[in-house]
Amino acid sequence: MLIGKPPDIPSSEITSRAAYFRYLSRRRFLKSAAAAGAGALGAGRLAEIFDPATRALAGTKLETVKSPLTTTGETLTSYDDITHYNNFYEFGVDKSEPAKNAGALPARPWSVQVEGHVKRPKTFDIDALMKLRPLEDRVYRHRCVEAWSMVIPWVGYSLAEFIKECEPLSSAKYVQFLSYWDRRVEHWGAEQTSISWPYSEGLRMDEAMHPLALLTFGLYGETLPNQDGAPVRIVVPWKYGFKSAKSIVTVRFVDRQPHTTWNDQASNEYGFYSNVNPHVDHPRWSQKVERRIGLPFWEQRKQTLMFNGYTDQVAYLYQGMDLRKNF
Ligand code: MTE
Repeated sequence: MLIGKPPDIPSSEITSRAAYFRYLSRRRFLKSAAAAGAGALGAGRLAEIFDPATRALAGTKLETVKSPLTTTGETLTSYDDITHYNNFYEFGVDKSEPAKNAGALPARPWSVQVEGHVKRPKTFDIDALMKLRPLEDRVYRHRCVEAWSMVIPWVGYSLAEFIKECEPLSSAKYVQFLSYWDRRVEHWGAEQTSISWPYSEGLRMDEAMHPLALLTFGLYGETLPNQDGAPVRIVVPWKYGFKSAKSIVTVRFVDRQPHTTWNDQASNEYGFYSNVNPHVDHPRWSQKVERRIGLPFWEQRKQTLMFNGYTDQVAYLYQGMDLRKNF
């Protein structure tokens, strides 16, 4: 399935110049600071080096291959915006909080538990999981239900490839993803008492097996920063962003539609399917247009596309369902 022309350069080279420059200068600063020795540094600089947000940004370069499953032609959102404008309620509700607080997430060692309707339960160590298939660079549009959007060069491989390794039984009709949850580490989330943690999301089995659904380990050619869901998250580009659970520790195959965090909160606002759909407004705002983060304000307003622009690839999954309803 070809969505666009595959990028013929590695993701590090397609990074917007300004963003990559900012990123490199930050790294250079950290390197020279380390070389200068802690004694020569002021308290403020020391604080930055050991600040959890700085650690959270310390990505490791990944070896990637080109993927035909990508979208090109739009300006990439900068690394700075992708990593400083986040939804990760476990680390605070404000968009800037995850970058400050997610350094507390213990992203190594890490394992993913597979359970439920499978031949036998399995545990995958994160490093083995990352080697299961070649890691691909895939540029996807990312549309939040809150009507903002980005264009992100993710790194990962099709969730379907992982699911095959899980050996689900034919009785598995849905797959549920549970995020890491420890109220001592994620006390910002614990303050959100109306949410029943851990963060839970789910897909119908055929959605999860769609090649566009991505088991994601990185962005911009490097490991995921904690605030973006390290060390492993899901990305489902034709759905609102909340369907893409971050920092996954459990993958559970189930025979019934699982409970999901935002659907539990307000089922009339956040449907289980929640495909990006400009024809179905959120009860409190329009979904016809979106604000592309990081562009000059006169270029930010974009028409929202059905299935976030992936109609040709995914519409068949929803044949017979009324697309004028929020389901
Ligand atoms: N996963 C967890 N565990 N906790 C969250 O709060 N927020 C969701 C989704 N996954 C969320 C989560 C929402 S609402 C969105 S829009 C995306 O993550 C945001 O991903 P980003 O911060 O990498 O852009």
